[in-house]
Amino acid sequence: MTTPIGIHDLAFATGSRVLDLSVIAERLGTEIEKYTIGIGQERMSIPAADEDIVTMGAAAAKQIIDRHGAEGIRTVLFATETGIDQSKAAGVYVHQLLELPATCRVVELKQACYSATAALQFATALVARDPRQRVLVIASDVARYELGSSGEPTQGAGAVAMLVAADPDLVVIEPGSGVFTSDIMDFWRPNGRVTALVDGKYSIRAYLQAVENAWNDYSAQGGFPISEFNRFCYHQPFTKMASKAHRHLIKTAGGDLDPAVLDAQIAPTLKYNRVIGNTYTASIYLALLSLLDSDEELDETKIGFLSYGSGSVAEFFAGTVQPGYRKHLRSEENRSVLAARVPIDASEYLTWHERRDPTELGDFALPNETPGPFRLAGFTDLKRDYAVTQ
Ligand code: COA
Repeated sequence: MTTPIGIHDLAFATGSRVLDLSVIAERLGTEIEKYTIGIGQERMSIPAADEDIVTMGAAAAKQIIDRHGAEGIRTVLFATETGIDQSKAAGVYVHQLLELPATCRVVELKQACYSATAALQFATALVARDPRQRVLVIASDVARYELGSSGEPTQGAGAVAMLVAADPDLVVIEPGSGVFTSDIMDFWRPNGRVTALVDGKYSIRAYLQAVENAWNDYSAQGGFPISEFNRFCYHQPFTKMASKAHRHLIKTAGGDLDPAVLDAQIAPTLKYNRVIGNTYTASIYLALLSLLDSDEELDETKIGFLSYGSGSVAEFFAGTVQPGYRKHLRSEENRSVLAARVPIDASEYLTWHERRDPTELGDFALPNETPGPFRLAGFTDLKRDYAVTQ
């Protein structure tokens, strides 16, 4: 029998500021119900001035290292589509901040919102080769669209960290998956731009097409029948997208289309993303965390994962929740982190939106704002200076 491999621990971090979508609705003269009902979003996390994908990724990973230590970690995979450098992997900064051993490889992965799933699959393969090893997977992103664009209400910021190991405490990632790639332009961010470009309606159609193709490949590969899955986690650029994708998957796969059944299969996965916003690579694993932190008893539950990254790549795979998983969660702490975010007003939001990294050599200090364990203190000659705060 092969050793089960999967997610041994899962932690998250997010921007320490929060914007209620009523602020955007008021500025744009939009009915708030378009956001709360139409796209299924209420609030979005915004990073403080000294927070970025590194500080959030490190804050998520620190919880895992504090609990398990660094033993066996010889690989760190950092997934992001909001990279901070064209050359250096953001994970190398995290490696330093967490004082991980030098006997470690660190690399960054990119393919829009999909790349954390590539990282997870690559990690399971590394552990299969040597089950003594553990792989630290980090997904961290800041979603920023042009003011006034259709994407503006779907911004957000957050990170997840996963420890991938043999005999995991939380979720076994089952072998086999369905994959799909298609060269399209539904969402992209050319070099030099801090805001992404998106053809929103096209991206919804492309996502649904990818769901269908990834599922068909999964079935062709001999995956579990749809009836074996009880819960489903989707990439959630906005939570309503998960409802659209789920209905399409179940229709494609020939499952039960009763709206109450469909809703029960995904409702607990939507809670965190609804109040955090789009976290790109992290969003599908925040959906998993939201599900695990819910009141439901999930021992042995089979979860279907549908990961989509515009451009586009998609993957369907299965996970099985492990008996006793609940003992290993941080549900209360997670809810406290969300409740502790500081609300910002319209002018603070616009200030954040205008923020840019310096592009000229020189020293640039950032205000000390984050309550988190790490901060981006500033820049020296275009080098990022990170600091430990706690
Ligand atoms: N009350 C309730 N619902 C309302 C409403 C109101 N007052 N006003 C509009 N809606 C509904 C619409 O009917 C629509 O629902 P539907 O999609 O189920 O038909 C939904 O709200 C959105 O309205 P729409 O007019 O389509 O909004 P939009 O043109 O501003 O675009 C998105 C919506 C999702 C396309 C846009 O937010 C976007 O581009 N998001 C980013 C997409 C993305 O991240 N893609 C990345 C790849 S996944």
